[in-house]
Amino acid sequence: MSAEKWSVLFHSTSGYRRNAVSFTYLLLTIDFASHISLNLFILRIVKKHTKLKIYPATTLKQLTPHKDLIFGRTFTDHMLTIEWSSDSGWADPVIKEYGTLSIEPSASVFHYSFECFEGLKAYKDKSGRTRLFRPDMNMKRFNNSAKRIALPTFDGNELIECLKSLLRLDSHWIPNERGYSLYIRPTLISTQNTLGVGPVSQALLFIICSPVGPYYKTGFNAVRLYATTENVRAWPGGTGDAKIGGNYAPCVRPQVLAAEKGYQQNLWLFGEKHEITEVGTMNCFMFWKNEDGETELVTPPLDGSILPGVVRDSVLSLTKSWNEFKVSERKFCMSDIVKASEQGRLLEMFGTGTACIVSPIKEIYYKGQDINIPLDANDPSSNAGPLAKRLADELMGIQYGEIPHEWSVIV
Ligand SMILES: Cc1ncc(COP(=O)(O)O)c(C=O)c1O
Repeated sequence: MSAEKWSVLFHSTSGYRRNAVSFTYLLLTIDFASHISLNLFILRIVKKHTKLKIYPATTLKQLTPHKDLIFGRTFTDHMLTIEWSSDSGWADPVIKEYGTLSIEPSASVFHYSFECFEGLKAYKDKSGRTRLFRPDMNMKRFNNSAKRIALPTFDGNELIECLKSLLRLDSHWIPNERGYSLYIRPTLISTQNTLGVGPVSQALLFIICSPVGPYYKTGFNAVRLYATTENVRAWPGGTGDAKIGGNYAPCVRPQVLAAEKGYQQNLWLFGEKHEITEVGTMNCFMFWKNEDGETELVTPPLDGSILPGVVRDSVLSLTKSWNEFKVSERKFCMSDIVKASEQGRLLEMFGTGTACIVSPIKEIYYKGQDINIPLDANDPSSNAGPLAKRLADELMGIQYGEIPHEWSVIV
């Protein structure tokens, strides 16, 4: 048997049966040197990322000065691509020059939104090492999103190893200033050429990277929200917990309408009681004195309509570990906010996400009125509350390797 017979640690939803049948072949490359006696054979574990092919770019681009970086506009020299087909599973990963993809207009990604993606960042620490923040969580979510829209799944650890190779090659693109980072966009699309709606037999996974500046260039900038009653972002049994392109485009028009009225983000509500779900493309937290007089940090539960944010999970873990106030994942509604505001029980509200970490909220428009959300009672000039500031500091400390933590993964 050829020494080059590779194992497929990447797997596909439709390839499970085949994988089960030839489990040995899938996990192990068995090098039987044909001339060797029975006792002498070598079992060699070959992981998919070791089959990575790298074709370095012939000319490297000029780096964009940090001050000129605009979110998602500049891309590094290289990208990672991995093709998939239902017949042969995942092909060997390839790193090549960043550039156009050649896809037929009939590809079903263009017609039925077979597309899911992720967003994570790489950070440079003070010693010049590159760090990722909880990439395993992004891989888990990426696979869940893929599964939800019948795209193939893969081995997240293997993809992280491929990503690390890409980051090593484009390491000079990661700004070494605190607050700056390299935004990483893994994406999976159907490349199957058909107008029929059905399971996909050809797909492409790619990763592109974009250097980005701090979300807020001059400290925090608290946002005004428009509590949206006209449109719904997600609903039970829908796809709100998946990071699929189809969830995002329909939210842009409501955002434009909110912006026309002077509000930066939509506060997405659900149901007759106007339950809070998310803020723009962030998870939502409220810090308050609850009806029982307890100090409580509350965020909506992962009921299928909330995206399981990496920062959301990190905020929950950190605040629980502080053991200073109650931390709850439970539903709350606009009426809770209105009442707490009237009774002076609101302490802070903020959104969380990879792009901004924590985004303080200062006002919510709801049913013809602007509800004032407190920031820092001790500092009227502040654009963030004490909890939002503390969380942002601690999370950035971990991301930039200043606070040792298992969440920060060295590349
Ligand atoms: C709809 C939505 N909610 C929440 C988040 C925050 O998720 P994370 O903390 O993983 O960035 C994002 C960003 O990815 C998002 O798009």
